[in-house]
Amino acid sequence: MTTYSTTLSVNGIPYSLAFDASRNLLSVIRNEVGLTGTKEGCDDCECGACMVLLDGHPVNSCSYLAAQATGKEITTVEGLSSGDELHPIQRQLLDAGGVQCGFCTPGMIMSTDALLRRTPEPTDEDIRIGLSGNLCRCTGYAKIMEAVKATAVELSGS
Ligand code: FES
Ligand code: FES
Repeated sequence: MTTYSTTLSVNGIPYSLAFDASRNLLSVIRNEVGLTGTKEGCDDCECGACMVLLDGHPVNSCSYLAAQATGKEITTVEGLSSGDELHPIQRQLLDAGGVQCGFCTPGMIMSTDALLRRTPEPTDEDIRIGLSGNLCRCTGYAKIMEAVKATAVELSGS
């Protein structure tokens, strides 16, 4: 085992950490940083439940070495909202009924945030592509699409 010591910036807060160099980012976020909103599903880069943003880009944290995140800004679902207020993506998902078991939801939220920053007025095809790395077993996706479109309208103020 090779211990790696570093400082990771998560949601704007620096964490001084020491962990095995082979650990993935998901496990360090959940177990060392203590933020459990990011979920572990397949642990094999298939489901998107573990999606976080690295410098604004969505990444499957189960398949990314934590050590490689040094020097990057890591954003988890806990970092999107301010205080007790829900982020518009979170509220629109709830309003549309796009959350059932909720296991996929943090990953969906992170991918949606990245999508709407890149493409503020996405087409249905843009949304499908933007969320193509996120699997949901419960909702059939229609209500999630509805929520993403409503969020885009809300954020663009149109
Ligand atoms: S847990 Fe990372 S993609 Fe499924
Ligand atoms: S709401 Fe259950 S997996 Fe998406």
